[in-house]
Parts: sequence; structure tokens; C-alpha cells
Amino acid sequence: MTSINLRKGPASKSGTDAVVIGIVKQEDGTVVPYSADDVSAAFGRNFAGILTSMGATGKPGEIVKLPSAGKLKPSLVVAVGLDNVDPADHESIRRAAGAASRALAGCTSVTYALPADTVEQVRAVADGAMLGNYEFTRYKTADQRPPVDEVVIITALARDKAAQSATKTAQVVARAVNLTRDWINTPAGDFVPAVFADAAVAAAKAAKVGVRVLDEAALQRDGLGGLIGVGQGSANPPRLVKLTYRPRRAKTHLAFVGKGITFDSGGLSLKRGDGMMTMKCDMSGAAAVVAAVTAIADLNLPIRVTGYACLAENMPSGNATRPGDVLTMAGGKTVEVLNTDAEGRLVLADGLVKASEEQPDLLIDVATLTGACIVALGARVAGVMSNDDALLHEIPRIAERAGEPMWPLPIPEEMADKVRASKIADLSQHNTEGAGGALFAAAFLREFVGEGISWAHLDIAGPAFNDAEPFGYTPKGGTGASVRTLVQLATEKAESR
Ligand code: BES
Ligand code: MN
Ligand code: ZN
Repeated sequence: MTSINLRKGPASKSGTDAVVIGIVKQEDGTVVPYSADDVSAAFGRNFAGILTSMGATGKPGEIVKLPSAGKLKPSLVVAVGLDNVDPADHESIRRAAGAASRALAGCTSVTYALPADTVEQVRAVADGAMLGNYEFTRYKTADQRPPVDEVVIITALARDKAAQSATKTAQVVARAVNLTRDWINTPAGDFVPAVFADAAVAAAKAAKVGVRVLDEAALQRDGLGGLIGVGQGSANPPRLVKLTYRPRRAKTHLAFVGKGITFDSGGLSLKRGDGMMTMKCDMSGAAAVVAAVTAIADLNLPIRVTGYACLAENMPSGNATRPGDVLTMAGGKTVEVLNTDAEGRLVLADGLVKASEEQPDLLIDVATLTGACIVALGARVAGVMSNDDALLHEIPRIAERAGEPMWPLPIPEEMADKVRASKIADLSQHNTEGAGGALFAAAFLREFVGEGISWAHLDIAGPAFNDAEPFGYTPKGGTGASVRTLVQLATEKAESR
């Protein structure tokens, strides 16, 4: 595992392969280092000129690499653009550190000389360094870049207890995010529900979190008709994984429920080939929930957390649920299935009912639920829907502090009416006409939340998987979206009890 050490400096004498510095554009157009004066001094008076002739503009995320040619102890200088960075904007620092760490192929030790004058800035550099330094190598038999084993952060707070503890937190959270990414990136054929459940059990045990797995017989016995209905078309049966972290000092109880569709073919309402390409990512919510609970336990946060991972593979077959079938969900409500590709809400319904039985103070579900949410908010912003107005607006603020963009969306009354419009069952699963698919889905989920429980739904269909080029600390593929928000929520709720 990568170690992170805080040092006072100087960066130019740090015994690592590379040193990362920030650069900004000045009014006269020249580009100058923002930090690490000793590094620029080593290059002589014309360092700005060297950077400019290398094509540096200082634009955020831009990377320029320079050989230090014996002028410094590290043999490589990586200059990352930090233009117009507000020192209070930790996300910019996180992204700059992430962009730099992605550019460090071949280095096994790195010194970061980026703005790190406050505890929050140190945390942001550590976050970016750890999150940008991710590669999914399980299926590469050659050409692997060597892992970074040492990160040094230059800061005046090197001996500060709070800065050291923030660094440890960054490491625990980044490990959870990177574990989530690994699980998402693993091909669906190698990560069927039973395999995911085993991985969740192993992660829970390592974090000393309680864990129970319900197999298909137990799901059948307990009447979890959503999980059974979605999973019955697959040769790989469904699972429900329950995680419990219950420290003695806990006053508040959080429950997390994650959508864990290990592959979403659409079922009999089959997707087109291109729409299936990324559907191994459809278990991102469940992965985030499992990883967040283990991180919260690793951080010893004084808060009770229960996590549910609702795992099923959505496949067409002679046993698959048909459009028009009626399922009886946990708790007894009946649902008319109108489109087997709207499967996430069915498995989440069971999870929400089970989680509600324990009357948590807050109930949060996380799901790659709708393409409609991507239409509304794009691929980088998660949608938040809730039955509690205060919570609806609180979650995006918590997410912003964690560095994850989220935005509130409404659950209009007309959607609640449409959910209840089935002619033959209690509820309709799908809105066969009209737009607003993300909102209808939320109205459906709300029906399964226990009376009086504050609930929020995070639709991470966009940010869970990055199909485009990497940016900042976000790699291609699984991103681990929402893990940091769940941990941040637990941190803040544990403090405010
Ligand atoms: N897993 C998909 C949603 C999704 C789409 C996630 C793109 C990530 C990227 C979900 O199960 C789905 O198929 N939703 C349908 C719902 C529709 C049938 C009501 C959709 O969004 O088209
Ligand atoms: Mn689907
Ligand atoms: Zn799905």
C-alpha cells in the first residue's frame, strides 16, 4: 500500500522520483510556479521562460513534464496548472493533484509541492494523489505501470496532529473508492451476485463489520419478490448482503441501500447492444454502499450504519419475469412490471423495506437508476430526490464538501399518482408515457420507505462510470461515485449528534 508522509520540505531535496509543482499564469502572460520556490530557483532565473517554451499556459489540469537534469534530487518535475485557484476551493487542488498523479507513469515515489497550508488543503492533495493513482490491471498480463509506494506532501503542517489524521482519513477513503472502482470494472461474467457477495463478506470481515448474506432460498422464504423477480431470468441467482457497523458510542443510525445489478441486459425488455456496453457498472450503488460502510468502520466513526447490497443479474430467459407480471415485494405490496429494464427500483424496493424495519434516523439509497437522470444533469452530476425537504438540500452540500457534484430534483405529485395508477396491482413499476423518468422512479421508491423515515435517493447513473477520457482524479471506467459522500455524511452526522 502507498504510504503518505507529510514533510516540511524543501521539495527540491526530497528523495523521490518526481516532484509535483503548481503553476499559474501571470498578467503579462508568463507562467510561474505557484509553490515550491526552491524548485524554480534550482532551474535558475528563467524558469518561467522554460515553462512557457514548453507550452505551459497554467490552465487547470494541464500537465508539463521537465527533466530536472541533476538540478534537484527528484529526476522529474511535473508542473500542473492551478490557474485562478481559490485557496478555499479544495476540489481544484484535489483535481490538480489527481491530474499530476495520472501523469506519473514509471515513478514509484512522488513529492507533492502543491498548496497545502491548511488541514483541508493537505487532505485535498492526499485525496487527489491517491484517487488519481488508480489503474485496473486485473486482466493485463503485461505492460503494467509500477505502483506508487511513497507519496510525500510538502506542508508547514508536517507535525500537526489534525493534518496527519486528515491524511490517514484520505488514505482510508481512497482505498474504499478504489475498491469500488475495481468491483465496477470487473467484467460482469466474473462478478455475478454470488461472487460480489463473497467479495462483500471479505471486505466486511477485514473491517470488522457484521455481515449476512441471504441466498435465493432465503430471499424466496422471506418474500423478497423484487430481488427474486429481477434475478429469476439469470443462471446466476440473486443475493441480499446486509452489513452492520454498530459501535457502542453511536447515537445516530444511518441505513444505506445500494442497487447491485451485476449486469443489466434489460431482461425481456432487452436493451440494444450499444446500450448494454457499460452495464457491468449497474452494481455501482451496491459497491459504493459496501465500501462506504467498511470505510466508516475503518475510521471508527461513532455512528451506527446498516448497509444493504441488493444483488441480481437482469437477464432474459424462459424463466425471466415478463412485462405484465405482478411481483409481491417485501412487506407485501404488489407491483405490475411494465418494463423489465426498469429493474433497479424492484430490487431497491425490497432493500428499502428491509432497511425501514429497523427505523433508521436516515435512509439513503444509491443507484445507477435512470438514463433520464443523465439527460437531466449530464454525466458528472448525481440527482438527489427525497421525502424530506431539508435533507434534499443538505445532501448536495455534504457531497460538495466531499468533492462530488450532486443536485436536488423534485418528486412531483403527478408522479405519485402515476405510480398508483396500475389497474391490476397496488403500484405501476414504469411510466409508459411521458418524460421525467428519474422522478417517477423516485416516486416509486418512496412507496417502500417506512412511515416517518427521512429518506434520500441518489441517482448516480451519470457519474458512476466514466465512458469518456480521464479528468482530474477520475479515471476511465468505474469512478467510485458517492462513496466519499456517504463517508462525509456519516462523519458529519457522527459529529453533530
Ligand atoms: N441501469 C439502467 C440505467 C442506466 C442507464 C445507468 C445508463 C447507467 C447508464 C436502468 O436499469 C435502466 O435501464 N433504466 C431505463 C428505465 C426505463 C426502462 C424506464 C432507462 O433509463 O432507460
Ligand atoms: Mn435497466
Ligand atoms: Zn439497471
